[in-house]
This record gives sequence, C-alpha cells and structure tokens, in this order.
Amino acid sequence: MLNPSAAKLELRMPGIETTVVGSRLYHYDEVPSTNLLALEHPEDGAVFVADSQTAGRGQHGNSWMSAPRLGLWFSVCLAGDPKGLPFAAALAVRAALRPRVRATLKWPNDVLLEGRKICGILAEHRGGWTALGIGLNVHHRVEDFPEALRETAGSLAGLTGEAWDRNDTLCRVLLELDRQVSRLRQGAYDRVRNQWASACDIVGKRIVRGDIEGTVMGIEADGALVVHTGGATVRVDSGAIRILEGNS
Ligand code: BTN
Repeated sequence: MLNPSAAKLELRMPGIETTVVGSRLYHYDEVPSTNLLALEHPEDGAVFVADSQTAGRGQHGNSWMSAPRLGLWFSVCLAGDPKGLPFAAALAVRAALRPRVRATLKWPNDVLLEGRKICGILAEHRGGWTALGIGLNVHHRVEDFPEALRETAGSLAGLTGEAWDRNDTLCRVLLELDRQVSRLRQGAYDRVRNQWASACDIVGKRIVRGDIEGTVMGIEADGALVVHTGGATVRVDSGAIRILEGNS
C-alpha cells in the first residue's frame, strides 16, 4: 500500500485558512481507495486525493467509479467522534457549489444536480478514526458513465455546460467542510443535523425502500427516517430509497 510519503505532490490551498481539514494534503495519481489510505495512515485533518481509484468504495458495498481526472476522489481523515460527519460533508459540498449551482441533498448522503447524482459520500471507521470519503463527478460526459448509471448520474461540467476546475472546487469543498467539522467539534451536532435534515426535504414524502413503502413522518436524531407504512411505523436507517412522485 502506498503511504503518504509516496504522495505525488502536496497541494496547497493558497489564501485559504482552515482549522482542521487540510492540515496536510496528499495527492496521488492512482490508489485503490483514498478511504483505505486515510484509515491506514491516520492523521487528523489530512486529505488524501487521487486522480483515479482502482477500487473506489461506495455505499452498501458497491464500487465507486473513479476514472482518471474526471472527478474529485478524496478522503478526509478525522479523529474522534464520527457523529454527524456525513451530514457535514453533504452540507459542505452543497455550500461549496452554491455560488455557481443549486445542488440538492438526497437522503441520506447524495448530492444531486438537476435530479442527477453528482456526489456520493462514504464514512468508514477504524480504531477511533474516520475516513470521510467524497466522490464528486466533475468532467464526465454521459458516455463516461457505465450504461447502468447514465439515466441517474451526472457531473458538474456535463450538467452545466461550463468549465469546472478540480483544484478550485476541491479547495472550496475543504473550506466548507472545515466549517462544518468545526461546528461539530464545538458541540453543534443538533444544528448540523437539523440543517442537513431540512436540506434533505424528505419529511412528508412517500418513499420505497425494498418492501417498505410509506410516508416519511420525521428524521430521528441519528438521521434515520421514521416511515409510516399505514399499518406500522418503521425506522429506515440506511439503504437506497426511491421517492415517489405525487406525495401524500
Ligand atoms: C456512494 O456510494 O454514494 C459513496 C461514494 C463515495 C466515493 C468516495 S471517492 C473517495 C472515497 N474513496 C472511496 O473509496 N470512496 C470514497
């Protein structure tokens, strides 16, 4: 496995002051997974960025397509309590893109633009450390995605028809992430969670997940959905959901 001293170069964030995130930036050509790298070389606030991943990891054991230089594939290594970090990441990506586009959040951790997924977030934990992995599609054209994703995935450049600079976008995300992580470290979990929950805009919507279909009545403190199915109230804490049109 590569270690940080083998990193190709250390990116700098000119003019950008952060307190935790970006304490170090390691940039690689190709790694199996930046999450794996972060967990194997824990260092609070260190950012591991790769131009491509050969075994990018996604939610629910899926793989994450991480083709060379088409997107931002990076992980932030963070010490301590992992509570709220995925919410912080989703809010940070949305805020970082906000000057140019209005991205939306899809429960639990997807960032969408024009209804297409442009970003996924995966937090993995080991021995008191979290690798907060973010994959943001930047330059993909439709044909760059595997056929199975072409209806649902998108990229910043593909959807806006504009040029996006990966380094600049990365710096903006890291800056926003630093703000959110600092809020969490100052004890503002509830405020971060509430902001994330309201951005997900899912309460009152009808959803399907597997054989559960019902109306979302609320979001619990840990981010799980409370779903009323008609006959029962169930908790949905993970998994891909589909939001049905024409909500009750
Ligand atoms: C998802 O399935 O929505 C989550 C995708 C997370 C992908 C990112 S890319 C950087 C980091 N390294 C990984 O192996 N996965 C995450």
